[in-house]
Amino acid sequence: MRTIVKNIKELVGVEYAPKLRKQGKEMAVLETIKDAYLLVEDGKIKAFGEMKDLKDDNADVVVDAKGGMVFPSFCDSHTHLVYAGSREIEYCDKIRGLSYEEIAMRGGGILNSAKRVQEASEQELYDDAMGRLEQMIGFGSGAVEIKSGYGMTTEAELKMLRVIRRLKENSPLTIKSTLLGAHGIPMEYRGRQEAFVDLVIDEMIPQAAAEGLADYIDVFTDQGFFTVEDTDRMLDAGAKYGLRAKIHANELAYSGGIQCAVRHNALSCDHLEYTSDAEIEALLGSETMPTVLPGAAFFLNMVHAPVRKMMDAGLGVAMASDCNPGSSPSTNMQLILSMACINYRMLPEEAINAVTLNSGYAMGVSDQLGSIAVGKKANFYITKPIPSYEYMPYAYGENKVARKFLNGVEV
Ligand code: NIG
Ligand code: FE
Repeated sequence: MRTIVKNIKELVGVEYAPKLRKQGKEMAVLETIKDAYLLVEDGKIKAFGEMKDLKDDNADVVVDAKGGMVFPSFCDSHTHLVYAGSREIEYCDKIRGLSYEEIAMRGGGILNSAKRVQEASEQELYDDAMGRLEQMIGFGSGAVEIKSGYGMTTEAELKMLRVIRRLKENSPLTIKSTLLGAHGIPMEYRGRQEAFVDLVIDEMIPQAAAEGLADYIDVFTDQGFFTVEDTDRMLDAGAKYGLRAKIHANELAYSGGIQCAVRHNALSCDHLEYTSDAEIEALLGSETMPTVLPGAAFFLNMVHAPVRKMMDAGLGVAMASDCNPGSSPSTNMQLILSMACINYRMLPEEAINAVTLNSGYAMGVSDQLGSIAVGKKANFYITKPIPSYEYMPYAYGENKVARKFLNGVEV
C-alpha cells in the first residue's frame, strides 16, 4: 500500500544518513524540510522531500496535511504501564511532607501497587493497560517500553509480562518488554534481601526467559532498594539469557548505579537526579544512554538531573514518561517535551531529539524508529496548524496532535 502525505508545513526530524543516537553538540541538530511531502509504502518510509519535487503522486491513500507539521512519533523508552488502581492518597501524603522513601518503608508505594496487581486478573490488567496505550497514541507516541515490577512474586511478575506480550500482539505500537523483578523488597524479605535476589535469579529470570517474555532486564538500584552487589548478581544472571540491562539508577542518591550500568553495558540507565562528574566520566564513551524522566522529578518535586552539563560533556540524553501510578501518572510525551525545555533548559531541537531518536535508542529501536528516514517504520503524526516546531514544547498542556499513523496506517 502506498500513502502520500502532502502539503506538510514542515517535516521535522529528517535524517539522510541515519544515526542510532545523537550525542553532545549533535543534540542541537534537528533537520527539517519546509513545504514537504512524505511517501509511505508498505508501512515504511519510502521517500520525502519538498512538495515541488513530488513527481509521482500516485497512491492508494492521499492525505492532505493542510499545513500541519509532521513529526516522528515519540519513543517512550521507560514506562510501568501495566498496573492496577491509582495512588492519589499517597500523593496527598507527599504533599503533607512524607518522602517517597518513607512511604515505601511503611509498605506503601511500590508494595501498594504490588498488592493490587497480585489481586487483579490478567484480563483486568490488560484492559487497563490497553486504555493507557490508546491515550499514548493520542498524544503522539509510536513506541513504548513496558516493565513488569509490580508483581513481586514469580507468578505475578509472569502475569504482568504475559499482559505485555498480549499488548505487543494487539497494539499497533512498537512495544518492548522489560523484566523488573527487583523493583522493591517485599515485606517478608525485609532484612534478608539476598533471598529475594536469589528468587529473581533462580525463578523469575529463567521462567521469563523460557517463555520468551522479556526483551530487557531492569533493577531499581538505589538507596533503600537494591545495592550494586545485588544488581551485579541479577544483571549477570540476566545476561546469561541474553537480557540486556536498562536500570533505574541514582534517583535517590549517588548509589553507584550509573557506574554499574556502564560496567554491564546497559542499554540505558534512567532517572539520574544524582549525577556528578564521576558519573558523567563513567558514561562517556559507553553505549549506555542516560535517560532522564522529567515527569517523575516534577511529580515528586525532586532535584533535576544536570542535563546541560551532561550534553556539554559530550553525552546524549534521552527522555521518557516513566508512566506509573506512584511517581508519574501521565501518558503524555508532549508534556515531557515541554518539561525538557522548561525544567532542564533544553532547546526545542535537543528536547525533540531526546524524546524521539535518543529514546528510541534507549529502547533498542532507533534503527527503525525515532526519525524520518528512508526505510524506517512509518510512525508519525500530523499536528494541528501550528506556527513553528518550537510551538510543540512551548504550548504545554494542550494536545497538538491531529492525526496519527503507525506502520503507515492511520490510527
Ligand atoms: O520509575 N523509581 C522506581 N520506580 C518507579 C516508581 C514506581 C512507583 O512508585 O510505583 C519510577 O519512578
Ligand atoms: Fe521507572
